[in-house]
Amino acid sequence: MKDRQNIHGSWANRWIFILAATGSAVGLGNIWKFPYIAGENGGGAFVLVYLLFILGVGVPIMMAEVLVGRRGRQSPINSMREVAIEANHSPKWAIVGWMGALAGFLIFSFYSVVAGWVLAYVAGMANGDFLDIGSEQAGKVFNDLLADPQALLIWHTVFVVLVMTVVMGGVNKGLERATRIMMPALFVLLLVLLGYSMTTGSFGEGVDFLFHFDPSALSWDAVLVALGHSFFTLSLGMGAIMAYGSYMPKGASIGSTVMTIAALDTIVALVAGLAIFPIVFANSLDPGAGPGLMFITLPVAFGQMPGGQIFGFLFFVLVGLAAWSSAISLMEPAAAWMVERFGMKRAPVCVILGIVVWILGIAALSSFNIGSDIALFGMNIFDFLDFITANVMLPLGGLFVACFAGWVLTKQISQNELAIKRPGVYALWLVLIRYVAPLAVAAIFILNLIEKLG
Ligand code: PFF
Ligand code: NA
Repeated sequence: MKDRQNIHGSWANRWIFILAATGSAVGLGNIWKFPYIAGENGGGAFVLVYLLFILGVGVPIMMAEVLVGRRGRQSPINSMREVAIEANHSPKWAIVGWMGALAGFLIFSFYSVVAGWVLAYVAGMANGDFLDIGSEQAGKVFNDLLADPQALLIWHTVFVVLVMTVVMGGVNKGLERATRIMMPALFVLLLVLLGYSMTTGSFGEGVDFLFHFDPSALSWDAVLVALGHSFFTLSLGMGAIMAYGSYMPKGASIGSTVMTIAALDTIVALVAGLAIFPIVFANSLDPGAGPGLMFITLPVAFGQMPGGQIFGFLFFVLVGLAAWSSAISLMEPAAAWMVERFGMKRAPVCVILGIVVWILGIAALSSFNIGSDIALFGMNIFDFLDFITANVMLPLGGLFVACFAGWVLTKQISQNELAIKRPGVYALWLVLIRYVAPLAVAAIFILNLIEKLG
């Protein structure tokens, strides 16, 4: 039972798993989303709460996902079913896998739109569109792009095709190769941006904004956004990490591997924030500018710094690559399931999935132009998709995985898979996964409802 083989292949070693999972984790969530939601939610207090969730909720749940995936050795849907059966429980736990696959489609649909903006900026940088640009013009360039459904559709299509192509190649050929060089390169470019930010004269203001703790700025709504983002940024609650875990070699230690991935993801987000906010303040921009924040601030910086055109071009290329390696993991759970269920080849499976997410993406991109009047619960389609996935579906998925790993699995199974040498560390994980993570998610949902109704 313990040595099931995965029909989709496996990572060559623990480092390849770290690379792939970091590729999944580090993406638009870090560079685009984290700074803008931190800006919208007042900075410091939000950031602290987010860090607490990463450590107390995200890390233990990520361990649980890898554990279940590696035990089941199949797509999340089938792994949940198999492992539940192994623990003498209902195969209905597969529903958690289903919900995750659905969340993957919905996330993909708006993720691909933002990745499309990035690609448009790659072209714009190459073209020299941002030379010596001021913040007002930068805002106009961004708004013009949003108002152009045709341009958005082209870039969205390009991105979907790029992702399809890699997922078709499968674990070893496709996913593995995509991640190796670009992660370190992206990080170096972020450091270049950080260096520039230090010269703006507003670096202190940026640091202060991100790290000054002012709890009065915090609402339950902001806490929910921080919770949701801790799932989104670590690719949790939808099976992506579970799918990657199913390809993980048997002997590798789950705890230290997961800590490495979470640390890298957090560092990238904080560096992105530290690079962006000084530019915001130096140019009197609004930290709460929303989804356009990165697309308005960074071109201004690249427009002013020496060699900015080249740096800017490289930067957006790398952000595009980071988005690519994340989106791959959004498609992988559903792709693996279809291969298992129907015995199909990866290529036709990926074409089918690609068409589905392409269509959903069109709905998302219309939010900024022809479909801007459509409102769901007071949000446009794009914001709604973001909200319902990150702030509802992922925390719920994580809640179920936590209960599954903490209460359904026998201690013998979890202890055996995690193989933690120090008994105190296993006991700590058990407390976090049984009580802290589920109660935190449940409490925040309830408090939010009360806040909204009251
Ligand atoms: N973690 C990715 C990011 O921060 O950009 C987004 C993501 C990828 C979320 C894969 C969920 C997922 F399954
Ligand atoms: Na992330």
